[in-house]
Amino acid sequence: MSFTTAHYDFTDKARGYAELARDVAALLADERDWIANTANATALLYAALPDLNWVGVYVPTTDRAGTRELIVGPFQGKPACVRIAMGRGVCGTAAVRRETIVVPDVNAFDGHIACDTASQSEIVVPLLRADRPGDAGFVGVLDVDSPRLARFGEIDRAGLERIAAIIVAASDWP
Ligand code: SME
Repeated sequence: MSFTTAHYDFTDKARGYAELARDVAALLADERDWIANTANATALLYAALPDLNWVGVYVPTTDRAGTRELIVGPFQGKPACVRIAMGRGVCGTAAVRRETIVVPDVNAFDGHIACDTASQSEIVVPLLRADRPGDAGFVGVLDVDSPRLARFGEIDRAGLERIAAIIVAASDWP
């Protein structure tokens, strides 16, 4: 299967996201492994969406003391922070709240974790299983970073939440 990203036209953002969501679903259709699926999905998002410097997932794990935290998973971009405490940074906050956080200016977000100083704005979407309520359904976060201020708005939120739901439903999670 080969994917070309040249045809996405985000001048009509909603349409661009609709096409991207369709292609993410097609890309993951024959595989259930969460690592393979998040690797391929983040690669497609990174190639398709304009003005990004990092796209990846963080998934729940535990530290040596048994405390729950996030650990980096498949991503595209520069090497990233490996572990993030629950409640810390944009990712840890989205994980605890289990809701999307849009940050127009990362320098104005209290507790933002700067992995790549190029990042100026960011959106973090929780990955939530539809078949399990509450924290039991939390399987990770999708983090998308941009070198442009206020890169992400409501259409990005809706588009990425739809894509996050596709990734979750297409995969088996640990
Ligand atoms: N900025 C994130 C950390 C992850 S990296 O940007 C890849 C945060 O504040 O949670």
